[in-house]
Amino acid sequence: MILVVGATGHFGRETVQALVDAGQPVRALSRTPESAALPAEAEVVGGDLTRPSTLAPALAGVTRMFLVLPYGMDTAPLLRAAAEAGVRRIVFLSSGAVVDGAAEQPDVIAAYHHEVEQAVRATGAEWTFLRIFFPAINSLSMAMQLKGGDIVRAPYGEATSAPIHEQDVAAVAAAALTTDGHTGKIYDLTGPQSLTQAEQVRLLGEALGRRLGFEELDAGPVREQMSRFMDGDFVNALFDLMEATVGKPATVNDVVERITGRAPRTYAQWAADHKADFS
Ligand SMILES: NC(=O)c1ccc[n+]([C@@H]2O[C@H](COP(=O)([O-])OP(=O)(O)OC[C@H]3O[C@@H](n4cnc5c(N)ncnc54)[C@H](OP(=O)(O)O)[C@@H]3O)[C@@H](O)[C@H]2O)c1
Repeated sequence: MILVVGATGHFGRETVQALVDAGQPVRALSRTPESAALPAEAEVVGGDLTRPSTLAPALAGVTRMFLVLPYGMDTAPLLRAAAEAGVRRIVFLSSGAVVDGAAEQPDVIAAYHHEVEQAVRATGAEWTFLRIFFPAINSLSMAMQLKGGDIVRAPYGEATSAPIHEQDVAAVAAAALTTDGHTGKIYDLTGPQSLTQAEQVRLLGEALGRRLGFEELDAGPVREQMSRFMDGDFVNALFDLMEATVGKPATVNDVVERITGRAPRTYAQWAADHKADFS
């Protein structure tokens, strides 16, 4: 049995689907299983990472696990319960911000994901880390603005990324969970093209049949405003990561294609798949 943690989120949901499509036995963890809306073939179980007593039942009979974690979540109870249940393989969705071999990680996002990677290694289970940078789902943050007009106002219009489709992450996760040769591997996953934020807005507009524009905002006030309702260190880490990409094409690699046998989906494809999120 394969347990997917974070199964109702963007990456977990697609991974549940990919495993179901591959005919694998899947269990999905959710705090609210009654509203999980996952494929009928998946067994949806109740469990809360902050309530350790709920984890042992969810892990009974599980040998492999895909881990998508909310930022900052303490993983010790889960990894302890997983070891006790006999989980032998863990695939973790990590971050491209992690710097291998650094005495100190550069920011809180890198530090958190690095800490989880270390904890997963320490379990003694077979592990694979999937590191992603700016996935295409980050564009969903523009949906609210685009309901009120055709201009996205944000800082760092020239920041670049190679946005990856969540279905490609899921396809790699499913392969790492169910096929051999992925143990002890760190995969940096990218989409097929380097695009600036402004170019992503233009492509999104093409998919939506709208002429969308990008208006550059000064980053300082936006950082300050976002820090009022989100962890300030997290906001600064995110913005610093974006700022560092301005003027530099994002790395594009062939990892998704090598592992899944098909080229990663384009951003245009992602936008077409997500039209309803912007309507
Ligand atoms: N976006 C990025 O730029 C980026 C970059 C690199 C890595 N990542 C990784 O992707 C993660 C986010 O993935 P996502 O977008 O798929 O997540 P998401 O859509 O925000 O979903 C969060 C998931 O976490 C589950 N969850 C939250 N609190 C829980 C708890 N206490 N116990 C059990 N489950 C809990 C939710 O399940 P229920 O609500 O059903 O319980 C849900 O399935 C990040 O935290 C990071 O590790 C993101």
